[in-house]
Amino acid sequence: MNVWRRLSGPRRALALAGAGALVAGGLVTIPVTAAHAATQCDIAYTSNDWPGGFTANITIKNVGDPLNGWTLGWTFPNSGQRVQQGWSATYTQSGSQVTARSMSYNGTLATGASTSIGFNGAWSGSNPKPTSFTLNGVVCNGGTTTPPTDPPTDPPTDPPTDPPTDPPTTNPPGAKVDNPYSGVPGYVNPEWKAKADAETGGSRISNNPTAVWLDRIAAINGTPDSSSNGAFGVRDHLDEALRQGAGYIQFVIYNLPGRDCSALASNGELGPDELPKYKAEYIDPIAAIQGESKYSSLRIINIIEIDSLPNLVTNTSDQAGGTVMCDTVKANGAYVNGVGYALAKLGAIGNVYNYIDAGHHGWLGWDSNFVPTANILKTAAVASGSTVNNVHGFITNTANYSALREPYFKITDNVNGQSVRQSKWVDWNFYVDELSFAQAFRNQLVSVGFNSNIGMLIDTSRNGWGGSARPTGPGATTSVDTYVNGGRIDRRAHLGNWCNQAGAGLGERPRANPETGIDAYVWVKPPGESDGSSKEIPNNEGKGFDRMCDPTYGGNARNGNNPSGALDNAPISGAWFSAQFQELMRNAYPAL
Ligand code: BGC
Repeated sequence: MNVWRRLSGPRRALALAGAGALVAGGLVTIPVTAAHAATQCDIAYTSNDWPGGFTANITIKNVGDPLNGWTLGWTFPNSGQRVQQGWSATYTQSGSQVTARSMSYNGTLATGASTSIGFNGAWSGSNPKPTSFTLNGVVCNGGTTTPPTDPPTDPPTDPPTDPPTDPPTTNPPGAKVDNPYSGVPGYVNPEWKAKADAETGGSRISNNPTAVWLDRIAAINGTPDSSSNGAFGVRDHLDEALRQGAGYIQFVIYNLPGRDCSALASNGELGPDELPKYKAEYIDPIAAIQGESKYSSLRIINIIEIDSLPNLVTNTSDQAGGTVMCDTVKANGAYVNGVGYALAKLGAIGNVYNYIDAGHHGWLGWDSNFVPTANILKTAAVASGSTVNNVHGFITNTANYSALREPYFKITDNVNGQSVRQSKWVDWNFYVDELSFAQAFRNQLVSVGFNSNIGMLIDTSRNGWGGSARPTGPGATTSVDTYVNGGRIDRRAHLGNWCNQAGAGLGERPRANPETGIDAYVWVKPPGESDGSSKEIPNNEGKGFDRMCDPTYGGNARNGNNPSGALDNAPISGAWFSAQFQELMRNAYPAL
């Protein structure tokens, strides 16, 4: 597990250019042509407001002729409403009039297709929603026309010609529920529960559902001799889930060739060229078991390949701190094709739900990472015979420590005329916390072609940041840095720190439907399991020693040369780390 990448010079420039375009731009118009007669649109505008600021999400549905490039226009009802920083379109504002112009990747909209854009804004007085929109100069009316009087009488004559591409499984595709977490109890892994119960005070949390990590081929049948995995195999867990009367069970698919390419602590058993083995000896047997009809009443959730695709975007060797292993797995397609294969094979099973890993805000929150990552996720989702229909959603913050919400500062805050984005901690990021990032990233994913009903998960296992060091109000307004550093609940030395962070606490307990666009808060990283050893520990699992897990390490370019912030005396990744478990309980937020 890893990772983060520090914003380098060019990214900074890009972030600035993006912000500048907004103030500098004038009203954009495009020539009106005869084709406009057939332009028609349906716009959904939602806004999430707080005093002085808001986030708006806009879904544009093309209900007219196919579009090749679009410009959305509206007028804010109130003169104090401003667009400040947007995504998935180029925004310009003149007085109260705003235009949002399509980007190269989302300008093409077939009839019936939708795309989502959004922005962070500021308001004073009140923040009413705009009521009228134009698309390419035509007022949107939802495509309302006089309904046909004669209903069609003939059934369609052409049978579908394309055979289904997904491989057959015992348990065929069915109608998946929209949110598999909703309304049913989650599976409690008895192996994790036993370790938690053995800790003083652990029974307070041991009944929470946590994910089962299939972190090597042997985990499919159970690994009684391993220090970082249990004796239960996939079938044992599924049988136990039935016995518990659980509604859903969560597995982590985590064994790509050349795994954890930018770090060492979670390197795995497969070399970068072992894609055939990944398919035949890892994914196929998992799919065979998950597809057994005996388990068809369970909602089986797979979290797909933590950190893998974001690493291809930010951690190749041409970037500061990047690695040759990331170059290799990018060039040979191991990650993209491995993820595509896993999605296709597992997604073909009617009661299986795939959520792909999507990093976290402290890694992907700059446009220069945000947009390419969404694109590569899409590439993987349609690789190896998969389609976007095999993707139910995405997960952010897996095994990381990024705060769900920063209650005492927002991305739109300014101090003495400087934006918090200019603070050292935020470092030009567009997001200050996971919830805002996950919601915005969801929109970006829909805009690149994922289904509009995808849901996000956020791993809240260790992002609580409670305890006595938690700030109780905003920092001093002396400078953006005093303001952010005094008020932030995430107490890490740097957002790029990822290993066994000192001071962290358990976050929100797992629950469904916590916020718009979020299917669930989940505990994917089982609290108490280490992220990596604090010194070299020989093992036969392929796990290396990463100095980001060494508390004496002074850091590198990826964490701004800050101390690692890791706890001492940690065992190898996945192994039980009692001292960390105790600290997570002490610093839980909400408190236990
Ligand atoms: C480790 C896995 C482990 C997982 C959950 C990962 O960092 O590499 O072996 O199963 O964490 O603790």
